[in-house]
Amino acid sequence: MSWERDAPHASAEPDARVARAFGMLTMLSSTTEGVSVATSFSPFVARHIGPREADIAVMLQRVAKASLAELTDTAIPASIRSTAPLAIEAAESEAAVLEQLRGYAAANKVVTSMLGQGYYGTITPGVIGRNVLENPAWYTAYTPYQPEISQGRLEALVNFQTMVTDLTGLDIAGSSLLDEATAAAEAMTLMHRSTRAKAGSVLLVDTDVFAQTKAVIHTRAEPIGIPVIEADLNDAASVEDLRTAAGGAEVFGVIVQYPDGLGLLRDWSGLAAAVHEMGALVTAATDLLALTLITPPGEWGADIAVGSAQRFGVPMMFGGPHAGFMSVRKGLERTMPGRLVGVSVDAVGYPAYRLALQTREQHIRREKATSNICTAQVLLAVMASMYAVYHGPDGLRAIAARVHGHAETIAAALRAGGFNLPSDRFFDTLTVEVGERCGPYVAAALERGINVRRIDSEWIGISVDETTTATDVTDLLAAFGCTSGEPSDSGIPADFARTSEFLSHPVFNAHHSETQMLRYLRSLADKDFALDRGMIPLGSCTMKLNATTEMAAVTWPEFTDIHPFAPSDQSQGYAALIAELEGWLCEITGYDAVSVQPNAGSQGELAGLLAIRGYHRSRGDDHRTVCLIPQSAHGTNAASAVMAGMKVVVVGTAPGGDIDMVDLKDKLAQHGDNLAAIMVTYPSTHGVYEDTIAELCAMVHDAGGQVYVDGANLNALVGLAQPGKFGSDVSHLNLHKTFCIPHGGGGPGVGPIGVRAHLEPFLPRSGQRGRAGAAVSAAPYGSAGILPISWAYIRLMGGDGLTQATKTAILNANYIAARLGEHYPVLYTGASGLVAHECILDLRELTKLSGVTVDDVAKRLIDYGFHAPTMSFPVAGTLMVEPTESEDLGEIDRFCDAMVAIRAEIQAVLDGKVAVADSVLRHAPHTAQSLVGEWEHPYDRATACFPQGLHVAKYWPPVARIDGAYGDRNLVCSCPPPEAFE
Ligand SMILES: Cc1ncc(COP(=O)(O)O)c(C=O)c1O
Repeated sequence: MSWERDAPHASAEPDARVARAFGMLTMLSSTTEGVSVATSFSPFVARHIGPREADIAVMLQRVAKASLAELTDTAIPASIRSTAPLAIEAAESEAAVLEQLRGYAAANKVVTSMLGQGYYGTITPGVIGRNVLENPAWYTAYTPYQPEISQGRLEALVNFQTMVTDLTGLDIAGSSLLDEATAAAEAMTLMHRSTRAKAGSVLLVDTDVFAQTKAVIHTRAEPIGIPVIEADLNDAASVEDLRTAAGGAEVFGVIVQYPDGLGLLRDWSGLAAAVHEMGALVTAATDLLALTLITPPGEWGADIAVGSAQRFGVPMMFGGPHAGFMSVRKGLERTMPGRLVGVSVDAVGYPAYRLALQTREQHIRREKATSNICTAQVLLAVMASMYAVYHGPDGLRAIAARVHGHAETIAAALRAGGFNLPSDRFFDTLTVEVGERCGPYVAAALERGINVRRIDSEWIGISVDETTTATDVTDLLAAFGCTSGEPSDSGIPADFARTSEFLSHPVFNAHHSETQMLRYLRSLADKDFALDRGMIPLGSCTMKLNATTEMAAVTWPEFTDIHPFAPSDQSQGYAALIAELEGWLCEITGYDAVSVQPNAGSQGELAGLLAIRGYHRSRGDDHRTVCLIPQSAHGTNAASAVMAGMKVVVVGTAPGGDIDMVDLKDKLAQHGDNLAAIMVTYPSTHGVYEDTIAELCAMVHDAGGQVYVDGANLNALVGLAQPGKFGSDVSHLNLHKTFCIPHGGGGPGVGPIGVRAHLEPFLPRSGQRGRAGAAVSAAPYGSAGILPISWAYIRLMGGDGLTQATKTAILNANYIAARLGEHYPVLYTGASGLVAHECILDLRELTKLSGVTVDDVAKRLIDYGFHAPTMSFPVAGTLMVEPTESEDLGEIDRFCDAMVAIRAEIQAVLDGKVAVADSVLRHAPHTAQSLVGEWEHPYDRATACFPQGLHVAKYWPPVARIDGAYGDRNLVCSCPPPEAFE
């Protein structure tokens, strides 16, 4: 069978009626004219910003500035300062914002979805919704780089990995990727490098892989020169068949969908054998729920499995966020993209989790990068893993059997009604031939509140899911003029039926009552340090308040239960909200257009660079492929450039930490003719406003290149300077930093890109007029379901509030630099002697003299009740501190006091009073358990555990310092047996 299928993209243009209803057209067209800017702050602003007015006075005194205005005027180069205030009106109150969100929600239309294609209705168990998705202990945590304070979420992720390996029948799984489509693209490059594919070798993709997955595969393959051929691989079972499908070329990899995009169960074992015979690899894009009943891909020969864990309790959310997954056969794990959690031991030999293969964990090895993924989908992976923990293998099988039973019932009734269904080998998705009457049947189903998939004019797709009821079945059949007979339940055809066990580990068989589950979730959350416990001063990460009101709409059904490919009149609330958010982001950044499709900063980088590439090529400048990247850049920058088919050329750092302008001139002279772009972070990753930025932009433009400003540090610019106005052509923004989407323990994220007008045509296609760029995410609006968070933040703060937040973030960082600069050198400051919104404390000399490392300081901070600052980025041996505007003076002082006290502990080592190996620093963090055993340290227990005096709210790390190298030597990435913890 071969059918024409449209790329299933809903439109995001809100229709004029909806836009008028929300006053949006007025708002958008008047952002630069006429909207009155609030002159005083709303109460919410004072709740978001930590320091009180009196505190601000104290802090200003410490940094020797008379006012916030003087501080920011001095810190930020005048040449880039915005002249006009942000034209964004603040909402009256939190209640008013919720009211407005309710209006948007009401403009979405929730119907029963039977559209499938990777997005299914699912029931989020209440205990998981309330205690994970809505629980700040889970959603405000950071990526578990500090494993001693992250054991809870690391355990949840090991459960996720075990769940994926068991269900797919493969050996090792990572702890989440961004979505199914990007996971498939990652599998493509993994297969390419693992097979050491020769130039010109081809990736074969079966025709019946989901359309959005194929689109992202094409996006990612083209710039790096991987030929992709789509072919009907249904009957391909020999090397010859594959070669023929590849047009005679060598094949390095094959991607198939299982069950396929039309719902058919296809036996791919012959294909897999043929692929292996030719030295190539097979990836199966697959469905976890189906795998509870059908033979897992690992058992029929797949080397890699990818997919989405969405239907394990994570709502559709108009396309995301959802946890993509990847599992691989042994031997492929060391080149896998994304984070891998492994088991190791702590200082006393107790089992402990941490990110495995840490040194290469980011696999973002600059120009040698194999992937750019950084922020992933931890919160959603935790939810999916808990869904499996809660239901257990029997519960999952029962859900899958019910789904399959409904599908069988529908199939039997449709056949009895005279419809042709080409196969009875399916799990949950049916393909029905309807003659030329597709339109009327789709309409009849919709009249009964059901979306079915219009494959083409003659074929309709119907996907059943966990939420499907007997009434839905009856209604659907009525739309086809059929009545349901007896429920059918003959089970999965025997040749596809799964025989192997899965999820036999006790964790999936022990928490099936709500009480047990509640306590399990609580016990894990208690092990972790998140923003709900204290400050997380991570430089470059902007761990600020994720206000409760901002989070509210994320779980409203009118936002959660919208399928990304639903007819556009069902998502008008989303369209209006997205359009308004994009308008505000344009106002804030000075760009002309924004796309919210990228679902992490890394994907924004790729989308932005692809826009630049598209622009050059549209002008016949195909040779412009050089991307200049400063030495201090975040690893994702170079990785994204490589993925966009560019050649990375590094620009050096001047002694003061700024970009070396002399080196830049040299590099421009050398590469100007082939220059595609420069990627710079502003303010720089050194936490400084470089005053050469405008000059840099001009120089690059003069050479014919484009300027990409990495917007990860936008929290230092909002309201004060606009990259789109000071010379940049494109930026990604991390909504999970500046715009309050919580980090979720390592994701989700949203990485929209803003561009100047000339790049707009190259933005990712997403139903919006005039955008023809390639898709970078599976869903048209990426992680649409969490956009209400950033929308609410901006609406609550208004332009003035946002600007005040930026000023306060700068004040907080400079206050810390002033207080701690007396104890640890602050590595870089701007020409004004000030830092931006973060500061780097240089411990290298202290380490050289005392042997105390940044690791020791980071772990000792845990004893003091803090998450460590960012370690050794962008300079090895340093700590980068970013307090954000949300931390108040009390918490900032507590942190500074801890750092000062730690400095005294280092001094004791320097003075020879204690050997570093015996010091309280080296043995940190100290656990509660350590107090009851032998005490062989030269310091007492109180010094170890209560360095700032006894207090009841003490955070106790569950494990002592973890030996990362041990875990890498003995790689274990799934749940250890319970005896290991005895
Ligand atoms: C400067 C910078 N650029 C890019 C990124 C990548 O963003 P994401 O993690 O959302 O992919 C980060 C993430 O921390 C960053 O700090």
